[in-house]
Amino acid sequence: MKRYIPVSRVEGTASRQAHCDLPEGTYEREMSKEGFFGPAAFFHHRHPPTGWTEFTGPLQPRAFDLAKLATGAASPWSAHEVLVNAHCRIRYWRLPGRMPRLARNADGDELLFVHAGVGELYCDFGRLLIEAGDYIVLPRGTMWRIESAAPLDVLMIEATNSSYQLPDKGLLGNHAIFDPAVLDTPRIDAEFLAQQSDDAPWQVEVKRRNALSLITYPFNPLDAVGWHGELSVVRLNVRQLRPLMSHRYHLPPSAHTTFLANRFVVCTFAPRPFETDPGALKVPFFHNNDDYDEVLFYHAGDFFSRDNIHPGMMTFHPGGFTHGPHPKALTRMFQQSKPATDEYAVMIDTRDALDVGAGAAPVEWTGYVDSWKVRP
Ligand SMILES: [Fe+2]
Repeated sequence: MKRYIPVSRVEGTASRQAHCDLPEGTYEREMSKEGFFGPAAFFHHRHPPTGWTEFTGPLQPRAFDLAKLATGAASPWSAHEVLVNAHCRIRYWRLPGRMPRLARNADGDELLFVHAGVGELYCDFGRLLIEAGDYIVLPRGTMWRIESAAPLDVLMIEATNSSYQLPDKGLLGNHAIFDPAVLDTPRIDAEFLAQQSDDAPWQVEVKRRNALSLITYPFNPLDAVGWHGELSVVRLNVRQLRPLMSHRYHLPPSAHTTFLANRFVVCTFAPRPFETDPGALKVPFFHNNDDYDEVLFYHAGDFFSRDNIHPGMMTFHPGGFTHGPHPKALTRMFQQSKPATDEYAVMIDTRDALDVGAGAAPVEWTGYVDSWKVRP
């Protein structure tokens, strides 16, 4: 850890263990550095820190119902731009069926998260079947296209000018959360070889500096007959995750980190049992996450800490915005009615501020900031 100024105190009426045994009638708020793994302070407030009566200005949280973005596009480079900064570009794409052109991202690695549908990915490395819940990492420069019989909904997360990596699992060892052996790679199979036609022109749309170039070939350039090496497209389905949990401690979101890129992380919330210790918090603690902007995409299930959120929605909490469980969820702070969560969600935490893209504006739910108000 960096050499932060060392302080370790307990002041006033306070618990000595984070997220546990809060003083009677109080609400815990965490203020921390480096997301959730730097120095932190835990306040015990008499009121929920989200109990505002009015909230104006650009720090307001935003919510977008991406499932309502009805228009499809055959090219991923026409996908709706949702949130963007210099290191991360988040888009939402509905592919109506078959991509007539190949795509290639020369700006950075691309992470596809399939929200709905099934399809076949054809790429430099071969063919891979894809389905809802799949993360697909496409290394920068990969040529690819997707064929699907029905519309495919995809969240696209570009690691601009960088590469996706896996987090250090430390004491857990390399095979926790998911074993690297479960990662699938494309195969040079009969279907892949069969699509290598020489009798029709193919075009590749290459994106560099977010501008497109179009390259035309008199043959299909996905014509590799083999490859070797330690770089490939990989696929991980969220059902393959074996999330960390503690029955006595509410783990911070950083425990669910799936991929790392330069100046942002991608985490996955997957079903897990609730904490059972009577004094342990069973909902997320209030926090500001001052060093990161937080994005959450809701894939499936019932979102235990949020009211009025359904699959296909995305929320955006700018760094410095205090948030925590919604009022209905807060009533279950120490007592959950179900034994386990059943949510799947993708979280993207960025070290630098994100801008809302034009593609998200038509589906914004402007009442989101008021959704923490307790209704009589
Ligand atoms: Fe948060």
